[in-house]
Amino acid sequence: MKNIDNRNSRFSRRCHPPPSELVASDREEVDAGIGILEFFAGKNIFVTGATGLLGKVIVEKILRSTSVGKMYLLIKAKDKEAAFNRLNCEIINSELFTRLKEKYGKSFEAFVKAKVIAVVGDICQPNLGMDFESIESIRKDVNIIIHSAACTTFNERYDVLFESNAIAPQRVMRFAKTCDKLDLFTHISTAYVTEREEGVVLEKPLNMGGLDVADEISLLLKSSPNNIDATKFYKKLGQQRASLLGYSTTYQLCKAMGEMCLNEIRGDVSLLIIRPACIESCHSEPLPGWIQGMRMLDPAVISYGKGLMPVSYANPKVPLDIVPVDLVVNLTIAAIAKHGNRHTTQPIVYYSTSSLDNPITFFDIFEYLYDYFKETPLIENLSISKTKFIEDFDEFSKCLREEILRCNGGGEDRKIIRRCNAIAQYVEQLCKIYEFAGFLKPRYHTGNTHKLIQEMSREEKLNFEVDVKIINWKMYFHEIYIPGVIKYLIQ
Ligand SMILES: NC(=O)c1ccc[n+]([C@@H]2O[C@H](COP(=O)([O-])OP(=O)(O)OC[C@H]3O[C@@H](n4cnc5c(N)ncnc54)[C@H](OP(=O)(O)O)[C@@H]3O)[C@@H](O)[C@H]2O)c1
Repeated sequence: MKNIDNRNSRFSRRCHPPPSELVASDREEVDAGIGILEFFAGKNIFVTGATGLLGKVIVEKILRSTSVGKMYLLIKAKDKEAAFNRLNCEIINSELFTRLKEKYGKSFEAFVKAKVIAVVGDICQPNLGMDFESIESIRKDVNIIIHSAACTTFNERYDVLFESNAIAPQRVMRFAKTCDKLDLFTHISTAYVTEREEGVVLEKPLNMGGLDVADEISLLLKSSPNNIDATKFYKKLGQQRASLLGYSTTYQLCKAMGEMCLNEIRGDVSLLIIRPACIESCHSEPLPGWIQGMRMLDPAVISYGKGLMPVSYANPKVPLDIVPVDLVVNLTIAAIAKHGNRHTTQPIVYYSTSSLDNPITFFDIFEYLYDYFKETPLIENLSISKTKFIEDFDEFSKCLREEILRCNGGGEDRKIIRRCNAIAQYVEQLCKIYEFAGFLKPRYHTGNTHKLIQEMSREEKLNFEVDVKIINWKMYFHEIYIPGVIKYLIQ
Protein backbone atom coordinates (compact mmCIF):
# COMPACT_ATOMS: atom_id res chain seq x y z
CA MET A 1 0.00 0.00 0.00
CA LYS A 2 1.20 3.48 -0.77
CA ASN A 3 2.16 5.77 2.09
CA ILE A 4 -0.73 8.13 2.60
CA ASP A 5 0.71 10.18 5.44
CA ASN A 6 2.07 12.86 3.17
CA ARG A 7 1.33 15.86 5.37
CA ASN A 8 4.46 17.61 4.22
CA SER A 9 4.51 16.60 0.55
CA ARG A 10 4.10 19.10 -2.27
CA PHE A 11 0.60 17.74 -2.51
CA SER A 12 -0.61 19.59 0.53
CA ARG A 13 1.10 22.86 -0.41
CA ARG A 14 -1.23 25.83 -0.66
CA CYS A 15 -1.45 27.96 -3.76
CA HIS A 16 -2.63 31.33 -2.47
CA PRO A 17 -0.53 34.42 -3.29
CA PRO A 18 2.24 35.04 -0.77
CA PRO A 19 1.88 38.34 1.15
CA SER A 20 4.75 39.84 -0.86
CA GLU A 21 2.51 39.73 -3.96
CA LEU A 22 -0.27 41.75 -2.34
CA VAL A 23 -0.38 45.53 -2.42
CA ALA A 24 -0.16 47.17 1.03
CA SER A 25 -3.87 48.05 1.40
CA ASP A 26 -4.98 44.56 0.34
CA ARG A 27 -2.51 43.07 2.74
CA GLU A 28 -3.84 45.02 5.71
CA GLU A 29 -7.42 44.05 4.97
CA VAL A 30 -6.62 40.43 4.24
CA ASP A 31 -4.33 40.12 7.24
CA ALA A 32 -7.19 41.10 9.55
CA GLY A 33 -9.08 38.08 8.22
CA ILE A 34 -12.42 36.78 9.42
CA GLY A 35 -11.18 36.31 12.97
CA ILE A 36 -11.80 32.56 13.17
CA LEU A 37 -9.66 32.05 16.25
CA GLU A 38 -11.06 35.12 18.00
CA PHE A 39 -14.60 33.97 17.30
CA PHE A 40 -14.17 30.44 18.61
CA ALA A 41 -12.23 31.42 21.74
CA GLY A 42 -14.30 30.32 24.73
CA LYS A 43 -17.40 29.55 22.64
CA ASN A 44 -19.53 26.58 23.72
CA ILE A 45 -20.77 24.32 20.95
CA PHE A 46 -23.49 21.67 20.77
CA VAL A 47 -22.85 19.07 18.05
CA THR A 48 -25.15 16.32 16.79
CA GLY A 49 -23.74 13.51 14.63
CA ALA A 50 -20.27 13.60 16.22
CA THR A 51 -19.76 9.85 15.73
CA GLY A 52 -20.30 10.25 11.96
CA LEU A 53 -17.79 10.92 9.18
CA LEU A 54 -18.26 14.69 9.10
CA GLY A 55 -19.06 15.27 12.78
CA LYS A 56 -15.90 13.53 13.94
CA VAL A 57 -13.68 15.67 11.72
CA ILE A 58 -15.51 18.82 12.85
CA VAL A 59 -14.93 17.98 16.52
CA GLU A 60 -11.27 17.12 15.96
CA LYS A 61 -10.54 20.26 13.98
CA ILE A 62 -12.25 22.63 16.40
CA LEU A 63 -10.48 21.05 19.39
CA ARG A 64 -7.08 21.08 17.66
CA SER A 65 -7.18 24.47 15.98
CA THR A 66 -9.18 26.78 18.21
CA SER A 67 -9.47 27.55 21.90
CA VAL A 68 -13.12 26.56 22.00
CA GLY A 69 -14.90 26.51 25.37
CA LYS A 70 -16.95 23.34 25.85
CA MET A 71 -18.15 20.91 23.21
CA TYR A 72 -21.38 19.07 24.04
CA LEU A 73 -21.71 16.01 21.81
CA LEU A 74 -25.13 14.39 21.52
CA ILE A 75 -24.55 10.64 21.38
CA LYS A 76 -27.10 7.83 21.04
CA ALA A 77 -26.60 5.53 23.99
CA LYS A 78 -28.63 3.77 26.66
CA ASP A 79 -27.06 5.71 29.54
CA LYS A 80 -24.27 8.12 30.47
CA GLU A 81 -21.70 5.38 30.84
CA ALA A 82 -22.47 3.99 27.38
CA ALA A 83 -22.31 7.50 25.86
CA PHE A 84 -18.95 8.07 27.57
CA ASN A 85 -17.69 4.76 26.19
CA ARG A 86 -18.79 5.71 22.67
CA LEU A 87 -17.09 9.09 23.06
CA ASN A 88 -13.84 7.38 24.03
CA CYS A 89 -13.88 4.40 21.70
CA GLU A 90 -15.36 5.93 18.56
CA ILE A 91 -14.23 9.54 18.78
CA ILE A 92 -11.39 10.47 21.11
CA ASN A 93 -9.38 7.26 20.71
CA SER A 94 -9.94 6.91 16.98
CA GLU A 95 -6.90 7.18 14.72
CA LEU A 96 -8.28 10.51 13.52
CA PHE A 97 -7.36 12.08 16.88
CA THR A 98 -3.67 11.05 16.76
CA ARG A 99 -2.49 14.55 15.88
CA LEU A 100 -4.48 16.10 18.70
CA LYS A 101 -3.04 13.49 21.07
CA GLU A 102 0.46 14.39 19.88
CA LYS A 103 -0.26 18.08 20.40
CA TYR A 104 -1.30 17.65 24.04
CA GLY A 105 0.90 14.69 24.97
CA LYS A 106 0.43 13.70 28.60
CA SER A 107 -2.23 16.34 29.22
CA PHE A 108 -4.45 14.99 26.41
CA GLU A 109 -6.89 13.23 28.73
CA ALA A 110 -7.20 16.27 30.98
CA PHE A 111 -7.70 18.50 27.92
CA VAL A 112 -10.49 16.29 26.60
CA LYS A 113 -12.11 16.02 30.01
CA ALA A 114 -12.18 19.79 30.36
CA LYS A 115 -13.57 20.41 26.88
CA VAL A 116 -15.76 17.53 25.73
CA ILE A 117 -19.03 16.40 27.29
CA ALA A 118 -20.89 13.34 26.04
CA VAL A 119 -24.64 13.90 26.23
CA VAL A 120 -27.01 10.95 25.96
CA GLY A 121 -29.59 11.78 23.33
CA ASP A 122 -31.50 10.95 20.20
CA ILE A 123 -32.70 13.51 17.67
CA CYS A 124 -35.79 11.38 17.05
CA GLN A 125 -36.98 11.65 20.67
CA PRO A 126 -38.82 14.47 22.45
CA ASN A 127 -36.31 16.97 23.94
CA LEU A 128 -33.71 15.24 21.77
CA GLY A 129 -33.75 12.38 24.28
CA MET A 130 -31.70 14.44 26.76
CA ASP A 131 -32.17 14.44 30.53
CA PHE A 132 -33.28 17.57 32.39
CA GLU A 133 -29.80 18.35 33.70
CA SER A 134 -28.19 18.27 30.23
CA ILE A 135 -30.97 20.36 28.73
CA GLU A 136 -30.53 23.02 31.38
CA SER A 137 -26.75 23.27 31.13
CA ILE A 138 -26.70 23.29 27.32
CA ARG A 139 -29.48 25.88 27.23
CA LYS A 140 -27.52 28.19 29.49
CA ASP A 141 -24.12 27.60 27.90
CA VAL A 142 -24.33 27.09 24.20
CA ASN A 143 -23.36 29.71 21.60
CA ILE A 144 -23.29 27.58 18.45
CA ILE A 145 -25.26 24.51 17.35
CA ILE A 146 -23.92 22.29 14.59
CA HIS A 147 -26.60 19.85 13.50
CA SER A 148 -24.89 17.13 11.47
CA ALA A 149 -26.82 14.03 12.59
CA ALA A 150 -28.95 12.39 9.95
CA CYS A 151 -29.86 9.04 8.52
CA THR A 152 -27.56 8.83 5.49
CA THR A 153 -28.83 5.63 3.89
CA PHE A 154 -30.31 6.85 0.62
CA ASN A 155 -32.85 4.06 0.23
CA GLU A 156 -33.80 3.64 3.90
CA ARG A 157 -37.51 3.30 4.84
CA TYR A 158 -39.56 6.46 4.33
CA ASP A 159 -40.76 6.61 7.95
CA VAL A 160 -37.17 6.35 9.23
CA LEU A 161 -35.73 8.96 6.84
CA PHE A 162 -38.69 11.26 7.38
CA GLU A 163 -38.29 11.16 11.15
CA SER A 164 -34.48 11.64 11.13
CA ASN A 165 -34.06 14.10 8.29
CA ALA A 166 -37.33 16.03 8.00
CA ILE A 167 -38.72 16.10 11.55
CA ALA A 168 -35.60 15.89 13.75
CA PRO A 169 -33.96 19.11 12.43
CA GLN A 170 -37.10 20.95 13.56
CA ARG A 171 -36.77 19.37 16.98
CA VAL A 172 -33.17 20.62 17.19
CA MET A 173 -34.30 24.09 16.05
CA ARG A 174 -37.07 24.19 18.65
CA PHE A 175 -34.45 23.41 21.29
CA ALA A 176 -32.16 26.09 19.79
CA LYS A 177 -34.92 28.66 20.21
CA THR A 178 -34.88 28.08 23.97
CA CYS A 179 -31.12 28.63 24.31
CA ASP A 180 -30.17 31.78 26.20
CA LYS A 181 -27.22 33.02 24.16
CA LEU A 182 -27.23 31.22 20.84
CA ASP A 183 -25.34 33.04 18.07
CA LEU A 184 -25.92 30.65 15.20
CA PHE A 185 -27.63 27.42 14.19
CA THR A 186 -25.59 25.52 11.60
CA HIS A 187 -27.44 22.89 9.64
CA ILE A 188 -25.59 20.35 7.52
CA SER A 189 -27.77 19.79 4.51
CA THR A 190 -26.74 18.34 1.13
CA ALA A 191 -26.15 19.78 -2.32
CA TYR A 192 -28.62 17.23 -3.64
CA VAL A 193 -31.61 19.01 -2.07
CA THR A 194 -31.61 21.16 -5.19
CA GLU A 195 -31.66 18.20 -7.52
CA ARG A 196 -34.87 19.42 -9.13
CA GLU A 197 -33.02 22.40 -10.60
CA GLU A 198 -30.82 22.57 -13.69
CA GLY A 199 -27.86 24.71 -14.70
CA VAL A 200 -26.05 26.79 -12.12
CA VAL A 201 -27.91 26.65 -8.80
CA LEU A 202 -27.54 29.73 -6.64
CA GLU A 203 -26.93 29.72 -2.89
CA LYS A 204 -30.51 30.43 -1.93
CA PRO A 205 -32.82 28.93 0.68
CA LEU A 206 -35.14 26.25 -0.72
CA ASN A 207 -38.73 27.12 -1.26
CA MET A 208 -41.45 24.59 -0.59
CA GLY A 209 -42.51 24.54 -4.28
CA GLY A 210 -45.41 22.10 -4.05
CA LEU A 211 -43.94 20.17 -1.13
CA ASP A 212 -46.21 19.99 1.89
CA VAL A 213 -44.72 18.33 4.93
CA ALA A 214 -48.15 18.07 6.57
CA ASP A 215 -49.34 16.00 3.58
CA GLU A 216 -46.42 13.64 4.03
CA ILE A 217 -47.11 13.30 7.76
CA SER A 218 -50.75 12.42 7.18
CA LEU A 219 -49.78 10.02 4.39
CA LEU A 220 -47.37 8.25 6.72
CA LEU A 221 -49.92 8.16 9.52
CA LYS A 222 -52.54 6.66 7.21
CA SER A 223 -50.16 4.18 5.59
CA SER A 224 -50.05 0.76 7.04
CA PRO A 225 -48.12 -2.22 5.72
CA ASN A 226 -50.86 -4.59 7.01
CA ASN A 227 -49.56 -8.05 6.37
CA ILE A 228 -46.82 -7.02 3.95
CA ASP A 229 -43.12 -6.77 4.84
CA ALA A 230 -42.97 -3.33 6.54
CA THR A 231 -39.43 -2.53 5.35
CA LYS A 232 -40.30 -3.24 1.74
CA PHE A 233 -43.53 -1.28 2.09
CA TYR A 234 -41.93 1.89 3.52
CA LYS A 235 -38.95 1.75 1.15
CA LYS A 236 -41.30 1.57 -1.82
CA LEU A 237 -43.51 4.33 -0.43
CA GLY A 238 -40.47 6.59 -0.04
CA GLN A 239 -39.30 5.95 -3.58
CA GLN A 240 -42.78 6.65 -4.92
CA ARG A 241 -43.09 9.94 -2.98
CA ALA A 242 -39.56 11.01 -3.98
CA SER A 243 -40.10 10.48 -7.69
CA LEU A 244 -43.56 12.06 -7.57
CA LEU A 245 -42.12 15.14 -5.87
CA GLY A 246 -39.10 15.39 -8.16
CA TYR A 247 -36.32 13.72 -6.18
CA SER A 248 -34.25 10.67 -7.05
CA THR A 249 -34.08 9.21 -3.58
CA THR A 250 -36.07 9.24 -0.34
CA TYR A 251 -32.98 10.63 1.42
CA GLN A 252 -32.90 13.72 -0.81
CA LEU A 253 -36.63 14.33 -0.43
CA CYS A 254 -36.39 14.15 3.37
CA LYS A 255 -33.25 16.30 3.60
CA ALA A 256 -35.00 18.90 1.42
CA MET A 257 -38.07 18.90 3.67
CA GLY A 258 -35.85 19.21 6.76
CA GLU A 259 -34.04 22.22 5.35
CA MET A 260 -37.24 23.93 4.22
CA CYS A 261 -38.93 23.44 7.60
CA LEU A 262 -35.94 24.86 9.47
CA ASN A 263 -36.29 28.05 7.53
CA GLU A 264 -40.02 28.19 8.25
CA ILE A 265 -39.80 27.71 12.00
CA ARG A 266 -36.51 29.40 12.93
CA GLY A 267 -38.07 32.69 14.06
CA ASP A 268 -35.17 35.04 14.74
CA VAL A 269 -32.50 32.34 15.07
CA SER A 270 -29.64 32.98 12.61
CA LEU A 271 -29.39 29.99 10.31
CA LEU A 272 -26.33 28.86 8.38
CA ILE A 273 -26.87 26.06 5.88
CA ILE A 274 -23.95 24.05 4.53
CA ARG A 275 -24.75 21.93 1.49
CA PRO A 276 -21.90 19.52 0.76
CA ALA A 277 -21.90 17.26 -2.26
CA CYS A 278 -20.42 13.78 -1.92
CA ILE A 279 -18.01 13.88 1.04
CA GLU A 280 -14.87 11.78 0.66
CA SER A 281 -11.69 11.07 2.62
CA CYS A 282 -9.47 13.73 4.23
CA HIS A 283 -7.26 15.55 1.75
CA SER A 284 -4.58 16.88 4.08
CA GLU A 285 -5.56 16.89 7.72
CA PRO A 286 -5.60 15.56 10.30
CA LEU A 287 -4.97 12.27 8.52
CA PRO A 288 -4.86 12.18 4.71
CA GLY A 289 -7.04 9.36 3.35
CA TRP A 290 -9.04 8.86 6.58
CA ILE A 291 -12.63 7.93 5.92
CA GLN A 292 -15.41 5.97 7.58
CA GLY A 293 -18.59 4.43 6.22
CA MET A 294 -19.29 3.43 2.63
CA ARG A 295 -20.41 6.44 0.60
CA MET A 296 -21.60 6.95 -2.92
CA LEU A 297 -18.29 6.46 -4.70
CA ASP A 298 -16.56 4.03 -2.33
CA PRO A 299 -18.58 0.89 -3.12
CA ALA A 300 -18.05 1.59 -6.83
CA VAL A 301 -14.29 1.92 -6.28
CA ILE A 302 -14.16 -1.34 -4.38
CA SER A 303 -16.35 -3.14 -6.93
CA TYR A 304 -14.23 -1.84 -9.79
CA GLY A 305 -11.01 -2.85 -8.00
CA LYS A 306 -12.41 -6.35 -7.54
CA GLY A 307 -13.22 -6.58 -11.24
CA LEU A 308 -16.97 -6.51 -10.62
CA MET A 309 -17.65 -3.31 -12.52
CA PRO A 310 -16.43 -3.70 -16.09
CA VAL A 311 -19.18 -1.34 -17.25
CA SER A 312 -20.43 1.86 -15.62
CA TYR A 313 -23.85 3.41 -15.72
CA ALA A 314 -23.04 7.14 -15.99
CA ASN A 315 -22.36 9.89 -18.46
CA PRO A 316 -18.55 10.02 -18.62
CA LYS A 317 -18.59 13.78 -19.24
CA VAL A 318 -20.62 14.57 -16.11
CA PRO A 319 -18.63 15.68 -13.04
CA LEU A 320 -19.14 13.66 -9.89
CA ASP A 321 -19.32 16.39 -7.31
CA ILE A 322 -16.98 15.29 -4.55
CA VAL A 323 -15.25 17.19 -1.75
CA PRO A 324 -12.72 15.90 0.80
CA VAL A 325 -14.13 15.97 4.32
CA ASP A 326 -11.48 18.34 5.74
CA LEU A 327 -12.41 21.01 3.20
CA VAL A 328 -16.10 20.70 4.13
CA VAL A 329 -15.15 21.05 7.80
CA ASN A 330 -12.93 24.10 7.21
CA LEU A 331 -15.67 25.78 5.21
CA THR A 332 -18.16 25.10 7.99
CA ILE A 333 -15.83 26.51 10.64
CA ALA A 334 -14.87 29.61 8.63
CA ALA A 335 -18.51 30.31 7.74
CA ILE A 336 -19.57 29.93 11.38
CA ALA A 337 -16.90 32.47 12.39
CA LYS A 338 -17.98 34.88 9.66
CA HIS A 339 -21.70 34.75 10.35
CA GLY A 340 -21.77 33.90 14.05
CA ASN A 341 -21.21 37.48 15.14
CA ARG A 342 -23.94 39.12 13.13
CA HIS A 343 -27.61 38.42 13.34
CA THR A 344 -28.95 37.42 9.92
CA THR A 345 -32.55 37.72 8.85
CA GLN A 346 -32.18 35.34 5.89
CA PRO A 347 -30.57 31.90 6.06
CA ILE A 348 -27.03 31.92 4.65
CA VAL A 349 -26.32 29.07 2.26
CA TYR A 350 -22.92 27.65 1.28
CA TYR A 351 -22.32 24.85 -1.19
CA SER A 352 -19.30 22.73 -0.43
CA THR A 353 -18.87 21.40 -3.94
CA SER A 354 -16.33 21.05 -6.73
CA SER A 355 -18.33 20.80 -9.96
CA LEU A 356 -17.82 24.45 -10.95
CA ASP A 357 -14.50 25.32 -9.36
CA ASN A 358 -12.51 22.15 -9.98
CA PRO A 359 -14.63 19.54 -11.75
CA ILE A 360 -13.70 15.89 -11.97
CA THR A 361 -15.67 13.82 -14.46
CA PHE A 362 -16.68 10.16 -14.28
CA PHE A 363 -14.28 9.58 -17.17
CA ASP A 364 -11.37 11.04 -15.11
CA ILE A 365 -12.34 9.01 -12.06
CA PHE A 366 -12.37 5.70 -13.89
CA GLU A 367 -9.08 6.56 -15.63
CA TYR A 368 -7.49 7.14 -12.21
CA LEU A 369 -9.01 3.93 -10.87
CA TYR A 370 -7.75 1.97 -13.89
CA ASP A 371 -4.20 3.35 -13.56
CA TYR A 372 -4.17 2.62 -9.84
CA PHE A 373 -5.54 -0.93 -9.87
CA LYS A 374 -3.50 -1.90 -12.94
CA GLU A 375 -0.37 -1.09 -10.98
CA THR A 376 -1.62 -2.19 -7.54
CA PRO A 377 -4.28 -4.89 -8.00
CA LEU A 378 -6.74 -5.37 -5.17
CA ILE A 379 -6.81 -9.09 -5.88
CA GLU A 380 -3.59 -10.84 -6.82
CA ASN A 381 -3.20 -11.47 -10.57
CA LEU A 382 -6.51 -9.80 -11.35
CA SER A 383 -6.25 -8.03 -14.66
CA ILE A 384 -8.35 -4.87 -14.70
CA SER A 385 -9.76 -3.40 -17.89
CA LYS A 386 -10.98 0.13 -18.55
CA THR A 387 -14.63 0.60 -17.78
CA LYS A 388 -17.17 1.03 -20.57
CA PHE A 389 -19.76 3.77 -20.02
CA ILE A 390 -23.33 2.92 -20.94
CA GLU A 391 -26.13 5.46 -20.49
CA ASP A 392 -29.13 3.19 -21.08
CA PHE A 393 -29.96 1.08 -18.02
CA ASP A 394 -31.24 -2.02 -19.85
CA GLU A 395 -28.26 -2.08 -22.15
CA PHE A 396 -25.98 -1.49 -19.15
CA SER A 397 -27.57 -4.37 -17.28
CA LYS A 398 -27.25 -6.76 -20.25
CA CYS A 399 -23.63 -5.82 -20.88
CA LEU A 400 -22.77 -6.00 -17.15
CA ARG A 401 -24.15 -9.53 -16.87
CA GLU A 402 -22.32 -10.72 -20.01
CA GLU A 403 -19.03 -9.15 -18.92
CA ILE A 404 -19.18 -10.53 -15.38
CA LEU A 405 -19.93 -14.00 -16.70
CA ARG A 406 -17.11 -13.72 -19.23
CA CYS A 407 -14.64 -12.59 -16.52
CA ASN A 408 -15.66 -15.60 -14.43
CA GLY A 409 -14.92 -18.08 -17.18
CA GLY A 410 -18.38 -18.03 -18.82
CA GLY A 411 -19.80 -21.48 -19.51
CA GLU A 412 -22.89 -23.31 -18.39
CA ASP A 413 -22.02 -24.03 -14.76
CA ARG A 414 -25.17 -23.14 -12.83
CA LYS A 415 -23.30 -22.22 -9.66
CA ILE A 416 -21.11 -19.74 -11.53
CA ILE A 417 -24.11 -18.27 -13.36
CA ARG A 418 -25.96 -17.82 -10.06
CA ARG A 419 -22.96 -16.14 -8.47
CA CYS A 420 -22.47 -13.85 -11.46
CA ASN A 421 -26.14 -12.89 -11.42
CA ALA A 422 -25.93 -12.04 -7.72
CA ILE A 423 -22.89 -9.82 -8.34
CA ALA A 424 -24.63 -8.12 -11.27
CA GLN A 425 -27.73 -7.54 -9.17
CA TYR A 426 -25.65 -5.87 -6.43
CA VAL A 427 -23.90 -3.58 -8.93
CA GLU A 428 -27.22 -2.75 -10.62
CA GLN A 429 -28.80 -1.82 -7.29
CA LEU A 430 -25.84 0.41 -6.47
CA CYS A 431 -26.08 2.12 -9.85
CA LYS A 432 -29.83 2.63 -9.50
CA ILE A 433 -29.52 4.24 -6.05
CA TYR A 434 -26.84 6.66 -7.24
CA GLU A 435 -28.20 7.06 -10.77
CA PHE A 436 -28.89 10.76 -10.17
CA ALA A 437 -25.20 11.45 -9.57
CA GLY A 438 -24.15 9.78 -12.82
CA PHE A 439 -26.33 12.09 -14.87
CA LEU A 440 -26.53 15.12 -12.57
CA LYS A 441 -27.55 18.35 -14.30
CA PRO A 442 -27.15 21.10 -11.67
CA ARG A 443 -23.83 22.77 -10.89
CA TYR A 444 -23.53 24.58 -7.59
CA HIS A 445 -22.60 28.23 -7.31
CA THR A 446 -19.90 28.93 -4.76
CA GLY A 447 -19.93 32.73 -4.65
CA ASN A 448 -20.23 32.79 -0.86
CA THR A 449 -17.21 30.52 -0.55
CA HIS A 450 -15.23 32.77 -2.91
CA LYS A 451 -16.15 35.81 -0.79
CA LEU A 452 -15.13 33.92 2.33
CA ILE A 453 -11.75 33.04 0.83
CA GLN A 454 -11.17 36.70 -0.08
CA GLU A 455 -11.92 37.71 3.48
CA MET A 456 -9.66 35.13 5.11
CA SER A 457 -6.20 36.16 6.25
CA ARG A 458 -3.16 34.34 4.93
CA GLU A 459 -2.87 32.55 8.27
CA GLU A 460 -6.53 31.49 8.15
CA LYS A 461 -6.13 30.19 4.61
CA LEU A 462 -3.19 28.11 5.72
CA ASN A 463 -4.97 26.70 8.75
CA PHE A 464 -8.50 26.40 7.39
CA GLU A 465 -8.17 25.50 3.71
CA VAL A 466 -11.55 25.74 1.97
CA ASP A 467 -10.56 26.18 -1.66
CA VAL A 468 -11.25 23.05 -3.74
CA LYS A 469 -9.03 24.47 -6.49
CA ILE A 470 -5.97 23.30 -4.54
CA ILE A 471 -6.94 19.68 -5.21
CA ASN A 472 -4.99 17.84 -7.84
CA TRP A 473 -7.53 15.08 -8.42
CA LYS A 474 -5.13 12.62 -9.99
CA MET A 475 -2.81 12.81 -7.02
CA TYR A 476 -5.75 12.82 -4.59
CA PHE A 477 -7.06 9.59 -6.11
CA HIS A 478 -3.72 7.84 -6.47
CA GLU A 479 -2.01 8.87 -3.25
CA ILE A 480 -4.79 9.61 -0.81
CA TYR A 481 -8.32 8.56 -1.61
CA ILE A 482 -7.89 5.04 -3.04
CA PRO A 483 -5.21 4.05 -0.48
CA GLY A 484 -7.57 5.49 2.18
CA VAL A 485 -10.50 3.39 0.96
CA ILE A 486 -8.29 0.30 1.03
CA LYS A 487 -6.91 1.05 4.49
CA TYR A 488 -10.04 2.25 6.26
CA LEU A 489 -12.89 0.57 4.41
CA ILE A 490 -11.51 -2.73 3.12
CA GLN A 491 -8.80 -3.70 5.61
N1 LIG B 1 -21.40 11.83 3.68
C1 LIG B 1 -21.75 12.54 2.63
O1 LIG B 1 -21.29 12.29 1.51
C2 LIG B 1 -22.68 13.71 2.81
C3 LIG B 1 -22.91 14.54 1.71
C4 LIG B 1 -23.74 15.64 1.86
C5 LIG B 1 -24.35 15.88 3.07
N2 LIG B 1 -24.14 15.05 4.12
C6 LIG B 1 -24.79 15.37 5.39
O2 LIG B 1 -23.78 15.57 6.33
C7 LIG B 1 -24.21 15.16 7.62
C8 LIG B 1 -23.21 14.20 8.20
O3 LIG B 1 -23.10 13.08 7.34
P1 LIG B 1 -22.09 11.91 7.67
O4 LIG B 1 -21.56 11.43 6.40
O5 LIG B 1 -21.17 12.32 8.75
O6 LIG B 1 -23.11 10.83 8.23
P2 LIG B 1 -22.82 9.48 9.00
O7 LIG B 1 -21.38 9.14 8.97
O8 LIG B 1 -23.81 8.50 8.51
O9 LIG B 1 -23.17 9.87 10.51
C9 LIG B 1 -24.46 10.18 10.88
C10 LIG B 1 -24.40 10.69 12.29
O10 LIG B 1 -25.74 11.00 12.72
C11 LIG B 1 -25.99 10.33 13.94
N3 LIG B 1 -27.40 10.02 14.09
C12 LIG B 1 -28.20 9.38 13.22
N4 LIG B 1 -29.43 9.23 13.75
C13 LIG B 1 -29.39 9.81 14.98
C14 LIG B 1 -30.33 9.95 16.02
N5 LIG B 1 -31.58 9.50 15.89
N6 LIG B 1 -29.97 10.61 17.14
C15 LIG B 1 -28.72 11.07 17.29
N7 LIG B 1 -27.75 10.93 16.35
C16 LIG B 1 -28.09 10.30 15.21
C17 LIG B 1 -25.16 9.06 13.86
O11 LIG B 1 -25.04 8.52 15.14
P3 LIG B 1 -24.77 6.94 15.37
O12 LIG B 1 -23.30 6.75 15.25
O13 LIG B 1 -25.28 6.71 16.74
O14 LIG B 1 -25.55 6.21 14.31
C18 LIG B 1 -23.87 9.64 13.29
O15 LIG B 1 -23.16 10.29 14.29
C19 LIG B 1 -25.60 14.57 7.42
O16 LIG B 1 -26.54 15.54 7.76
C20 LIG B 1 -25.66 14.26 5.95
O17 LIG B 1 -26.97 14.31 5.46
C21 LIG B 1 -23.31 13.96 4.02
